[in-house]
Amino acid sequence: MKFAGLKIAVASALLLALCGCSKQNEVNWSEEGSGVWKLTAGKPDRVNLLSELGATPDWKAIGSIGEAALPFDAEEVKIEVKDGRTTVRFPLEKDEKIFGLGLNFKTVEQQGRVMRLHVDHYGGSDNGRTHAPVPFFVSSRGYGVLINAARYIDAWVGTGVRTDSKNPPVVRDRNTDPEWNAKPFSDNIEFLVPADGVELVLFTGQSMLDVVRRYNLYNGGGCLPPRWGLGFWHRVPSLYTDKDVMAEVAAFEEKGFPLNVIGLEPGWMSRSYPCTYEWDDRRFPDPGQLLGNLDSLNVKVNVWINPYVSPDGELYDKVKPLSGSHSVWCGLVPDYTMAETRGEIGSHLKKHQIDLGVSGYKIDENDGYDSWLWPDVATFPSGISGEQMRQIYGAMMQKTTYDLYKEQNLRTYGLVRSSNAGANSFPYVLYNDYYDHRDFITAMINSSFIGVLWTPEVRSSRSSEEWMRRMQTVCFSPLAMINAWADGTKPWSFEDVSDGINELAWLRIKLIPYIYTAFADYAFKGIPPVRAMNLEDGFSMDAKMDSVTFDATDNPYALAVKREVKNQYMFGESILVAPVFAGESERTVTLPKGKWYDFYTGEYAGNGEVITVAPGLDKIPLYVKDGALIPMYSGRPKLDGGMYPLEVRHYGDASGSFSLYDDDGTTYNYKNGEYVRIGLEVSADSDGNKKGHVHIPDSGKAWSYDGFDFVFMTGKK
Ligand code: GAL
Repeated sequence: MKFAGLKIAVASALLLALCGCSKQNEVNWSEEGSGVWKLTAGKPDRVNLLSELGATPDWKAIGSIGEAALPFDAEEVKIEVKDGRTTVRFPLEKDEKIFGLGLNFKTVEQQGRVMRLHVDHYGGSDNGRTHAPVPFFVSSRGYGVLINAARYIDAWVGTGVRTDSKNPPVVRDRNTDPEWNAKPFSDNIEFLVPADGVELVLFTGQSMLDVVRRYNLYNGGGCLPPRWGLGFWHRVPSLYTDKDVMAEVAAFEEKGFPLNVIGLEPGWMSRSYPCTYEWDDRRFPDPGQLLGNLDSLNVKVNVWINPYVSPDGELYDKVKPLSGSHSVWCGLVPDYTMAETRGEIGSHLKKHQIDLGVSGYKIDENDGYDSWLWPDVATFPSGISGEQMRQIYGAMMQKTTYDLYKEQNLRTYGLVRSSNAGANSFPYVLYNDYYDHRDFITAMINSSFIGVLWTPEVRSSRSSEEWMRRMQTVCFSPLAMINAWADGTKPWSFEDVSDGINELAWLRIKLIPYIYTAFADYAFKGIPPVRAMNLEDGFSMDAKMDSVTFDATDNPYALAVKREVKNQYMFGESILVAPVFAGESERTVTLPKGKWYDFYTGEYAGNGEVITVAPGLDKIPLYVKDGALIPMYSGRPKLDGGMYPLEVRHYGDASGSFSLYDDDGTTYNYKNGEYVRIGLEVSADSDGNKKGHVHIPDSGKAWSYDGFDFVFMTGKK
């Protein structure tokens, strides 16, 4: 099917004649590249989710992904523009599954949901208000769509049955039919965009993973953090002084815990809430010296900021004319969509932090709570509305700070509390104050559909069991961090599990060669480093509906509750992570088809089945695919750019290979081809003999692995 230049009348001729709006309702399809179409109708907004970010599609990488036809007729996509509102409709089949639509914390499959996608601090229900309400969905039919509008977008995913439905639900009598359902199936996904038109970007793929890869690569590919960013992070209490910081770093060293990044919270600044972005000279009299000392210990420094500019700092007068009509906590709200604003703030941050050696930022409070954020009636000097600003603010702050490091040819890695579409190439990981451990894992799973990263940061725990369980999952996430800003917890705070935590933290560090390659695959191929099981070949688990007891007063329209796999995920190419939560001693794990092996012992675990495991407190259950190779540091590396030897673990009976990525670990030279892929291979014959091979390309490019020791985990004596 060819779509280039195709124009499709969306509503019926009769409807068009009635409303007299034929031009408005035409959907213009244009083929952008392999498996990517742009659809426009009406007059789309000048500012959209991607327009201010400057990401460019990686067409070469997109072109290398297998092509797939659109799974429905183009005519089935309907767009209608009326009264400043645009409605968008896609067909939905009964057994089709829809994923994505924002960073959800409780659900993975989105059929049957109603939401308003709106940047906000997550409030405990998946209603669309979240830190990254990315209006991108992926369908199990092999396509995905980005609603590219910086607006609060309403979504009805298979709810709201149309009277012109092609597959209407069965009409049931509630008096007598126990199958009666308060939410009968609707064969449409519908959106409402409060604008005079819309731009959509549609992606196809032979699998959902291919669709997600196209989406990520369309936005420039995923980020590749500096190698140190994948190490261990620790944020200290808000009012720590330079001496406290040095003592904390020394304690890590003395107790033998890895520490790669120390995070400073609001107290490093002379004023916070609103911010000066200048050091507080009572607590940090000589920041340059502190940063130099930490650098010599190979510890990077990340500093907390929020967007609001204090009247007590140098920046205030400069950005006053470049800020919005409303203040937040009596601070200015800079209009980051203007180059001039980014320039002023950029030179201030450069002077006070980056030139002194600060490695990156934690950008807080840009998601907002309606009660204190700028209201939607706010105006901004660039002309962008309060609503649009809310939807893109976090992404704009990521861009501004990322650009500052990029100009210095230095990679950064940081944290942010809001994001949206198009920010996947910015090296930022989302976090929040909500602290439900299970929901944190579901958020991490959901992040993989929408081009964002999420960390289930660890802050405090009620017991050593909970501490251990939380630490296990954060060590298998994009950013392994304790955020002790409020209570000063340390990795060794729970003495009875301190040795286990130490081993775990070092396991994280040892896995960096494997994790770094996973991020290179995110950057070059668009493959998310942490992935939902639904993106994995051979995984099948249909969400089951659990019926809910009918209660005439509390729950008169009882809705069935969906049971889905939202507590296990893929980490890198071939490790399946199945977290255990405090209070549990065993859990079930759904293994995709193919043989799987226990990471720690190499023993066979199962094949396309549900297993029950009771791992004990010291282990997070991890399973590895048959034939997979896991490259790990064999010692305890400093991540200082030195050469370190590797242990290459092989699992199962099958032959296998791993394309190990390496580069200088800190600059953007890899974008100019300054990287290597080292071929690691294990060949296994029918007698079970295994042999490892290493192919180092003769390219003369930088690499940092010193020796490769193959360990055959399965069948090992
Ligand atoms: C919160 C943030 C916390 C911590 C705190 C400091 O908004 O989510 O992680 O940084 O601010 O005041």
